[in-house]
Amino acid sequence: MTDPFTPTSKPDSDERLGGHQVCVVGAGYVGLTAAACLAHLGHNVTCVEASPHRLEVLRGGGIPIHEPGLADLVDEGVRNGRLRWAADVASGLGDAGIVLLCVGTPPRADGEPDLSQLADAGRQVARAASRDLVVVVKSTVPPGSCEAIELICADEADAGVTIRVASSPEFLRESRAVEDFLFPDRVVVGAEDLDVIDLVASLYPPASPVVRCDRRGAELVKYAANTFLAIKISFANEVAQLCDALGTNAMDVLDGVGSDSRIGRQFLKPGPGYGGSCLPKDVSGFVALGKSAGTWTSLACAAEEQNALARRSVAGRLELVIGPLRGKRIGLLGLAFKDGTDDVRDSPSMQIAKDLLAAGAVVCAYDPLAHGESAPVEVKRVTSPREVLTGAEAVVIGVDSPEYRNLDPIGVADLMSGDVVFDAAGVCDLDAWGRAGLNVYGVGRGTPMAFYPVVWAPLRWTVGAPVDSLD
Ligand SMILES: NC(=O)c1ccc[n+]([C@@H]2O[C@H](COP(=O)([O-])OP(=O)(O)OC[C@H]3O[C@@H](n4cnc5c(N)ncnc54)[C@H](O)[C@@H]3O)[C@@H](O)[C@H]2O)c1
Repeated sequence: MTDPFTPTSKPDSDERLGGHQVCVVGAGYVGLTAAACLAHLGHNVTCVEASPHRLEVLRGGGIPIHEPGLADLVDEGVRNGRLRWAADVASGLGDAGIVLLCVGTPPRADGEPDLSQLADAGRQVARAASRDLVVVVKSTVPPGSCEAIELICADEADAGVTIRVASSPEFLRESRAVEDFLFPDRVVVGAEDLDVIDLVASLYPPASPVVRCDRRGAELVKYAANTFLAIKISFANEVAQLCDALGTNAMDVLDGVGSDSRIGRQFLKPGPGYGGSCLPKDVSGFVALGKSAGTWTSLACAAEEQNALARRSVAGRLELVIGPLRGKRIGLLGLAFKDGTDDVRDSPSMQIAKDLLAAGAVVCAYDPLAHGESAPVEVKRVTSPREVLTGAEAVVIGVDSPEYRNLDPIGVADLMSGDVVFDAAGVCDLDAWGRAGLNVYGVGRGTPMAFYPVVWAPLRWTVGAPVDSLD
C-alpha cells in the first residue's frame, strides 16, 4: 500500500493535520488500531486499556493482537511520543478534547449486544472530565445508544462540563485493520451538531470520503452494512447448495453473477459460513433491532439460518462419505475465523472442530496464529500442516489461506492414511488434487457425490413431460 503519511509527505506541524489531543478507551482490534493510526496521522493519543495483560504487553513494547503493520505503527508512535498508555480513564484523559470509546459490545444470549462496557467507559470519562468533551462511540451499538451514553455522561459529569456524544462506527477488517483505517472506503460520522461532525471528521485521514448523518443513522449504518455482507455470503452458500445438487461449479456460477458491476464479486464465495466477532453478532443485533422496532427482518433471519447450515453441515457431510466418525483421525487446517488473524471468536472452523469431536472423531488441528486456549481441550493442536496430514483418515480445510492453497497434493496424499479431503474453504485445485488420488469434496464445487440426489428437471422439460406434472 502507498502510505500518504510517510515521514516525507507528512505535514510538518501538528496544526496542519489538526493535531488533536485524543484519548482512546480500549486497546483491542479497533482501539489499538485507531490509537496507532491517529498517532501516525499527527494526533497526540493516550490509549487506555483495562486488561492488565494487554497493558503489560503494550508497555513491554509488544502488541497483544496479531494485525499486520500495527506493531510498526505502535512502535513509531511510542518512539515519537505521540502514543502513550494508561491503565484507567482517570489517569489517561489528561488534556484530551476528544475521547474514542472502542470497548467490546459482545452479544448476550438473546442476540442483543451487552452494552455494559460502554456504559462503564462513559461513566469513567464523565467522572474524570474537567472540561467540555466530545465522546465518539466507535464500538458497534444499536441506534439510540449514543443518546443513552450522553445522558449517563450528563448525570456523572461535574456541573459546567458538557459532554457531547457522536457516533462514528468502525468498518475495519481484521488482518487489514491498518490499511482500512488509513484508507477507508468511507468514514461515517453522526452527531447532533455540525461542529461536532466536522471535529470528528478531522480526526481521520484528510482524503477520506465522509458520510454525515444523525447519530441513529450512523449507528444503523454499521448494522446494515454487516447484515448486507452476511446476506451476500449466505446467498453464495445457497447458490453453492444448488450447484452441488445440479452437479455444477459454484465458483464459475458466482463469478458470472459477481461480474455484474451492480453485484460485485466480493463476498460471493461459498464456504463454511461467516464468523468472527462482528458479522454473527451484528446480524443477530439487526434482527433484535427489528423485533424491538416492530419491523420484520426476514432477510437477516434467512442469512442466520443459511449460515448455521453452512458451518454445521460439514461434519455430517463428511460422515456421509467416510462413514461413522467415531475413533477416526480427522485433520483440520485452520481454526481462526479467517486467514491472517489470531481471532477465533465465533469461528466456523472452531464449530466444525466441536461437531467432529461430538461425532467421536479424534481431531488434530493446525492454525499458525489462532489463540490456542479457545479450542476445545480435546483438539490436538500441532505446529505444521504436515503433522495434521500425517496418518489422517480425512482432512477438513476450514480456512482459505495461501498456506493450504499451496500444499502439494501428491505430498498430502503420501502423508494421509485415507484419501478424503473436505475442502470447506474452497482452496483446492480439484483436478490437481484428484490426479494425486485424493477425493476432494467441497462446497459448491460440483462434487455432489453422496450428498444430494440430482433432480433433473430440465430433462423432463426436453422430453415433453405434461405441463401439469411440472410444479
Ligand atoms: N474486531 C473488529 O474487526 C471490529 C470491526 C469493527 C467494529 N468492531 C466493534 O468495535 C468494538 C470493539 O471491538 P474489538 O474487537 O476491538 O474488541 P476487543 O474485545 O478486542 O477490545 C476491547 C478492549 O476494550 C477494553 N476495555 C473494556 N472496557 C474498558 C475500559 N473501561 N477502560 C479501558 N479499556 C476497556 C478491553 O479490555 C479490551 O481490550 C465492538 O463493538 C466491535 O463490535 C470490531
